[in-house]
Amino acid sequence: MNQDGVNESRRRFLYIATGAVGAVGAVGVATPFVKSWFPSEKAKAVGAPVKVDVSSLRLGEMVIAEWRGKPIFVLKRTKESLAILRDDAFKARLVDPESDVVSQQPEYAHNDTRALSDELLVLEGVCTHLGCSPKFVPEVEPQSYDANWQGGFFCPCHGSRFDLAGRVFKGVPAPSNLRVPPHRIDGNVLTVGEETV
Ligand code: FES
Repeated sequence: MNQDGVNESRRRFLYIATGAVGAVGAVGVATPFVKSWFPSEKAKAVGAPVKVDVSSLRLGEMVIAEWRGKPIFVLKRTKESLAILRDDAFKARLVDPESDVVSQQPEYAHNDTRALSDELLVLEGVCTHLGCSPKFVPEVEPQSYDANWQGGFFCPCHGSRFDLAGRVFKGVPAPSNLRVPPHRIDGNVLTVGEETV
């Protein structure tokens, strides 16, 4: 258990059994897709908003929803990971640490955590190089592709790396940060594809 109360052995082991976020099981292979509250196939085809109940999502855990055929990463970040994101020495390793490329996030996510609410990260899980889906690698420990890995997303296709705000590291093929989709948060309900007016 770390200082945020995160059980490290649990956060990669989510299993969505009933359609609601947060039911737990021993999957441990990949971050689960959320099946909850999906609109009809017809509505999905025209890009209808998708709702996700995040009430059971624990610190450090991520689930994947789907919107307009794209994986949507929904991650609840710890205080520790938020501190890393704000560290100036860490930001010096990034291509666009202040998210100045405006096409990659809505205005309300143009901030130091790229989020409406610091804890909850919502990203399109689509690499900005050639469109593979990056892998969630939350562990803060050396990786074969980065000896100073602080947790983030790794795209195995051509080795692009992103931090836990979806910001791209220097020296990789991906040219820009992962995109933040339009979304809103009402209590424990995240709606992707719809914004607060
Ligand atoms: S598609 Fe991700 S690195 Fe090429």
